[in-house]
Amino acid sequence: MPYADVFARSIADPEGFWGEAAQAVAWSAAPSRVLDRDDPPFYRWFPDGELNTCFNALDRHVEAGYGERLALIHDSPVTGTVRRLTYAGLLEEVARFAGVLRDLGVTRGDRVVVYMPMVPEAVVAMLACARLGAVHSVVFGGFAPRELAVRIDDARPKVIVSASCGIEPSRVVPYKPMLDAALDLAAHRPERCVILRREQAPAELVPGRDLDWAEAVAAAEPAGWVPVRATDPLYILYTSGTTGLPKGVVRDNGGHAVALLWSMREVYDARPGEVFWAASDVGWVVGHSYIVYGPLLLGATSVLYEGKPVGTPDAGAFWRVISEHGVSTLFTAPTAFRAIKREDPAAALLGKYDISSLRTLFLAGERLDPDTYHWASEKLGVPVVDHWWQTETGWPVAANLRGLDPMPIKPGSPTVPVPGYDVRVLDSDGRDRAPGQEGAICLRLPLPPGTLPTLWQDDERYVSSYLSQFPGHYLTGDGGYLDEDGYLFVMGRTDDVINVAGHRLSTGSMEAVLAAHPAVAECAVIGVADELKGQVPRGFVVLKSGVEADPQTVCAELVRAVRDEVGAVAALKRVDVVPALPKTRSGKILRKTMRGMAEGADEPVPSTIEDATVLDALRPVIAPDQGR
Ligand code: COA
Ligand code: AMP
Repeated sequence: MPYADVFARSIADPEGFWGEAAQAVAWSAAPSRVLDRDDPPFYRWFPDGELNTCFNALDRHVEAGYGERLALIHDSPVTGTVRRLTYAGLLEEVARFAGVLRDLGVTRGDRVVVYMPMVPEAVVAMLACARLGAVHSVVFGGFAPRELAVRIDDARPKVIVSASCGIEPSRVVPYKPMLDAALDLAAHRPERCVILRREQAPAELVPGRDLDWAEAVAAAEPAGWVPVRATDPLYILYTSGTTGLPKGVVRDNGGHAVALLWSMREVYDARPGEVFWAASDVGWVVGHSYIVYGPLLLGATSVLYEGKPVGTPDAGAFWRVISEHGVSTLFTAPTAFRAIKREDPAAALLGKYDISSLRTLFLAGERLDPDTYHWASEKLGVPVVDHWWQTETGWPVAANLRGLDPMPIKPGSPTVPVPGYDVRVLDSDGRDRAPGQEGAICLRLPLPPGTLPTLWQDDERYVSSYLSQFPGHYLTGDGGYLDEDGYLFVMGRTDDVINVAGHRLSTGSMEAVLAAHPAVAECAVIGVADELKGQVPRGFVVLKSGVEADPQTVCAELVRAVRDEVGAVAALKRVDVVPALPKTRSGKILRKTMRGMAEGADEPVPSTIEDATVLDALRPVIAPDQGR
């Protein structure tokens, strides 16, 4: 079908469009209404529908006779194991773990925090929550105790599910001590913790609070699925905002199932029974949507990869996984391909594997640079599809839709708005920009199904963060433009969110750590371009007058503090002491100017600057290689 027709219908008649798409989902009570528009700017999809997402992801396929089809392949080069679970096998495990949670008193609407590495039990825990109508909140394993504690206090879980350790190529990362530390910091106390003990690290269980996963599962009876309202929350996923306090993005059950199923077919052109591999982590939105829910709702086989693109053991790891499991669709972040290209520029390792099963490579999470696009296209010989979206939307906003009639790819653009998303580029007064003119990328309300209905217990922040700047529109936080052909070009964030190796991080949370150091008077963290990771954070601090500590020692302490308090994933490796930070006359730090200087751009001196001489003092520190 031609894209233009599908898109036009989705915007002109969203009720008709999504009402039809909803027929692909199994409802325990079919919705009689598609969209509730009674309380703008809050919109609710399928308000009177009832369903169970776990039933749709598992039971439904087993009941249809596909119980022996593979649902999940856990490929773990870091442990040297591959584990395959059929739909029937995964259902059995999920039902039993749902029994564990039910016996711990978890019922519909209760929250369960999941802090786990890339093991099948993470998926089992998520689906078990969905089965009971409980709300999971998965926290990425690379976050440190303080970040975990903030999320625990916001979600207030009845139970936390965790593991003894994660495994990084260079080390075993003990998760259990981090969980214990987080619980020491958090004000909220969960009733119980269920701990998966992995053989690579022991875990001391706290008597009366902690349960051993294996023992609990052995003692449990399987639990059935419970119908929930389409508008009930399926999960909360915290994501970095502009402040240090993460935003709890809420996902509902009904709209999510409808949108993900639609996207699997029309965006990814994936088919039931095929092998779909999103090389990400269950702690990120890509993992939620395209490791867990999307492939399973479709009846495809999902690869859960516990490894890296390089170093586990080499830059041929991705090709091995594709050939060994017959992957037809691969989705990852450009940074993974930059890492492979850096180690094996000629892709010589490709010669060892048959990757003929691969039909399409999808990339997202950060800007796809032209070099990486051309390298991947040339070496793999399949279409390389850049697509753009965010935690809040839950599924692609702009893409080259592979399930519709082919559209040419323009390198540098994630192609066109996905049906359902009325993408607008606005100027500061909220007027549409002309083609080719940059502005704020916004989405006209209502957003399509599957996108965030609100932030967890914070309607006010939902409105103030996303909906108040341009009434009637959702503000994405990215800047960019639409060209004459309606192709979208995304230029990057216009706020203090940065993207490091495809991981979304807040400079605000790192600044909070730097500012807490007793020697620091003022600080700024900015994201600067990096060849491998896309962006990396850099910190700048002004020391308090009279501080006698050695600046180098302070900087090393600050790097350590960010690693300990935000997490290794923040990857803040460099902090510099500067005499002053450039500011506007109203006292706002000129971060954009600093970023430009750090990247070697010929930054104009902003007219709003308070003291232009500050820039001269900053230059040798921020961009020491410039002008030599
Ligand atoms: N648990 C504990 N620690 C973790 C972790 C986890 N789940 N994930 C990452 N870390 C640690 C890493 O070990 C590393 O620690 P180090 O500083 O001691 O080396 C640090 O966090 C930074 O990790 P990362 O940014 O991943 O850098 P890297 O150098 O280990 O790997 C890449 C670089 C490009 C290979 C890697 O980032 C990658 O594969 N990215 C793929 C992109 C991706 O998955 N994006 C998700 C959205 S699609
Ligand atoms: P996350 O919420 O972690 O998925 O991060 C979302 C942000 O990543 C977006 O707001 C963009 O800034 C960036 N991003 C995601 N995909 C792309 C893409 N294809 N091109 C450019 N930036 C992207």
